[in-house]
Formats: sequence, structure tokens, C-alpha cells
Amino acid sequence: MQVLHQVAGALVAPGKGILAADESIATMSKRLAEAGVTPSADARRDYRVLLLTTPGLDSWVSGIIVCDETLGQALPDGTTFGEGAAAFGIMAGIKVDKGIAPLPFSGGGFVTEGLDGLRGRLDAYRSRGAVFAKWRAVFSPAGLHPRTVRANGHALARYAALCQETGIVPIVEPEVLMDGGHGIGACQEATASVLAAVFGELGAMGADPRGMVLKPNMVISGTGNEDQAGPAEVAAGTLQVLAATVPPAVAGVAFLSGGQRNDQACANLAAISARAAAGGAPPWRLTFSFGRALVSDALRAWHGLPGNAADAQATLAANCRRASEASGRPAVAAAGA
Ligand code: 13P
Repeated sequence: MQVLHQVAGALVAPGKGILAADESIATMSKRLAEAGVTPSADARRDYRVLLLTTPGLDSWVSGIIVCDETLGQALPDGTTFGEGAAAFGIMAGIKVDKGIAPLPFSGGGFVTEGLDGLRGRLDAYRSRGAVFAKWRAVFSPAGLHPRTVRANGHALARYAALCQETGIVPIVEPEVLMDGGHGIGACQEATASVLAAVFGELGAMGADPRGMVLKPNMVISGTGNEDQAGPAEVAAGTLQVLAATVPPAVAGVAFLSGGQRNDQACANLAAISARAAAGGAPPWRLTFSFGRALVSDALRAWHGLPGNAADAQATLAANCRRASEASGRPAVAAAGA
């Protein structure tokens, strides 16, 4: 367990966060097409290599999460993605869930699948250089059904325990979606009941909180709600839920962006960090594990053209630096990084 604790701690080291670049083949292909790039395995690899090789990325990013396809691909010099990431001072993580499927008798809820054969897949990913993993469950605040919460909590906990037994740090990602017309109160209520259930199951399955990272949503208003809560309200709601549900021994909390723009996600994270610091240091490190809020601008800048690579990498670097500063890293230190 000692190694797990060290890896979990390093993932959430001060000033560092985790870059989520683990879109499935279908989602990545769609995003490439939207950015004017013809989707292919090579295009998906080139894009992930562009992200990983961004100069200075390791100043702000501790780990990068990729999908099965990317972990099996090679960098231009022939090294595997896992070896390449290590050479850049970045830990490689692997998304191991197999996506969502409708859950019976749950009023339209979903359960995340992928437990069958997971032990063997984790062993294989570990030999390919992955030191941490991710499993995402999704919850809609409107009509959140207890069966959806229970089934996903159980799956997340079995996944986490299996990862730890295999020597891999699990990122546990229960995401209350921001899509919908609900207010911040509904998000807070849903997030509180989901996190309470998830930690109940993690305890029941024997998962070690010191050897894991929680990746939750921030408590925010639904995108369709005209009353959008500002960063102060987001920080208050988010920290209230975390304090009530997350065991102090958990190594760190790395928020997903959920579709927020970089400026929104960073403003909210900065408010959360500031409020947490003002209330006395919280027991867990607070940081980011954003996907879209870090990479969307870079993907648009790239367009699949080698001549745009430097601009795209500078865009990614700027977004990562802002997120790092929002997690509490002094801006002056980041500027010199
Ligand atoms: P977003 O920050 O784009 O929500 O992605 C994070 C993630 O890992 C989703 O599973």
C-alpha cells in the first residue's frame, strides 16, 4: 500500500493536477471532426502526443489519463506512450470502465460497466506503464434514483479495491452532470447523496482512502438554469458537501470540469481553494483533473496542421498554468516554471 499512497500523493502534489485525455475512440473522433481534422487512429495518436509533449507540461500536470487505444500507441521515436509519459515526468493513467448502459427500474438512470475481466486488464495496463486508473459513473440530478446511486457506488468500490490489489491507484469519478435546468441546490443534494453512498461502498469493499483520488463534480447550477451560481456560492456548496462526505484520509480531490470553459472552471476552483484555505487547510489536497476545460482550446488551435502545433501547445500550457494557479499554486512561482 505504501507505493499506492506515494503515487496518490504525487498525483495531487501542490500545484499539480491531472490532464484527462481519455476520450473514447468515438468521442475523440467526433471532437476531431468538429475541429476540422479527419478522424483516424493516427490523428488521435498525433493529438495525444501533441498534448503530452507540450513544453513545461510537467510543471502543472502530474498525470495524464488516456484510453486503451492511446496506451497501446507509440510516440514518433518508437517508445510506448507509457514510457514516453514517464520520460516527460508525467504519470500514465488508463480509463478502464467500458461506458454506461441503462439500469433497469431506475427511471432512466445508467450504470457504468466494465468489471468483468478487469483484473486481467489491470495487470496488462500495469505492464504497459499505467500507474493509475479511472472509472466514471454519471448521475442526473433530475429524478436521481436510489438504484442508480447504489449500483454505481458498488461498481466504483469494486473497481477501486481491484485497482489497489493490483498496485494501481484508482481515480474514483462519480459525476453529477451539469446538463439540465436544475438549480445549484439540486446539484448539491444529488452530489451529497452520491458521495455518501460511494464512500459507504468503498469502505464496505475495503478500499484504502489514502491510496485513491476522488474526482467529483463541483457543485454548480445546471447549464439550462437562468440563475447561474457564482464562484463564491459554488465554493460554499462544494466544500460543504466534501466536508460532510469525504473521509479525511482520502489523498486528494481532483475536480472534473464537466463541460465548463477554462475560465469558469478555474474561477470556481480558485474560489474553492481560497475558501478552503481560509477555513484552515482541508484534510485532502484540492486540485483539477479537467478534460475539456484544458484541451478544447488547444484542439481548435491545432486543426491537425503540424504548423499549428506550437500554438496549440502554448494554448494548452496556458490553460494548465491557470488551473494550477487556481488550485492554490502561487502565480509568481508558476510564471517562473
Ligand atoms: P471534463 O473535465 O471534460 O468533464 O472531463 C473530465 C473527465 O475525465 C470526464 O470523464
